[in-house]
Amino acid sequence: MELRQTLFGVDVPAPVLLAAGTCGFGEEVAGVTDLGRIGGLVTKSVTLEPREGNPAPRVAEFDAGMLNSIGLANPGAHRVRDEKLPWIRDHLSEIRVFVSVAGHRVEEYLEVVEILDGSEGFLGYELNLSCPNDTRLGGLPFALDPEALTEVVAGVRARTERPIVVKLAPNAPDLAPIVQAAEAAGADGLTLVNTLPGLAFDPVSRRPLLGAGAGGMSGPALRSVGVHAVWRASQSTSLPLIGVGGVVRGEDAVQYFLAGASLVQVGTASFWDPRSAPRVLTEIRGFARRNRVASITEWIGAGQFGGLRPETPEVEAVVDG
Ligand code: SIN
Repeated sequence: MELRQTLFGVDVPAPVLLAAGTCGFGEEVAGVTDLGRIGGLVTKSVTLEPREGNPAPRVAEFDAGMLNSIGLANPGAHRVRDEKLPWIRDHLSEIRVFVSVAGHRVEEYLEVVEILDGSEGFLGYELNLSCPNDTRLGGLPFALDPEALTEVVAGVRARTERPIVVKLAPNAPDLAPIVQAAEAAGADGLTLVNTLPGLAFDPVSRRPLLGAGAGGMSGPALRSVGVHAVWRASQSTSLPLIGVGGVVRGEDAVQYFLAGASLVQVGTASFWDPRSAPRVLTEIRGFARRNRVASITEWIGAGQFGGLRPETPEVEAVVDG
């Protein structure tokens, strides 16, 4: 099966990437999974200053997924440039690496990109505008506010020639204006979706399971939300889409392709089994063989909607009764 695609002006060897926050900067997982077999990875989000992150516990599992509130723990842009990117340059030249960038303020994103952009070894940026745990100061997360999102994306666009992928949130009331704002501001692709805000209590102690209180929900429970978001985005843009949320098996990835994604990311499943991403790729191949699909492009955007019109409004009128 042909899994290669040309996206963002380069050859992407396989349609499965590791999601931000699940593989550090690659080096942390290189001993337990074969990174050369997958299409690429997205680094942990990088902020201007180093961050210690939120109090433990930072993750809590439940039946259908996981909550996290890591608080964007990372070494900060200068150490990432000096210590992490050289390793990526020297070890991951066969796969495509996006550096995830996060911040509280617009200027923080721009400064991080200015610090990193002269380094070699990575393809582009994934702008994390949708972290539910440590978000924009004094406003909604950037991904829920088209004007604020535009400021970040346009500012980054003016500072780099590299591809920019914008990571969006699952809880936008209407994705269309957000998607259109990202494209108009210069995005080259979109990642859908980040985690969904969630909260779990210990019924005995009556305290939240996470040290920070609320967090972001991921895993199988997020899959249909992510697939829906990709499909909605595909109605508003022809930019390449990257689906993330609940990809555990090859067939989950195929759902994202049918909705319009060109690539998928594996996140939570990697915590359960660090070899999940290469296994998902093997399963995609097996599924394609059994179903006589010769190229991934046969799947992308090929979902059949039956009676559900693509233009169905996202926010339905409430019907009496
Ligand atoms: C975190 O570091 O708290 C999670 C990051 C994210 O969900 O974007």
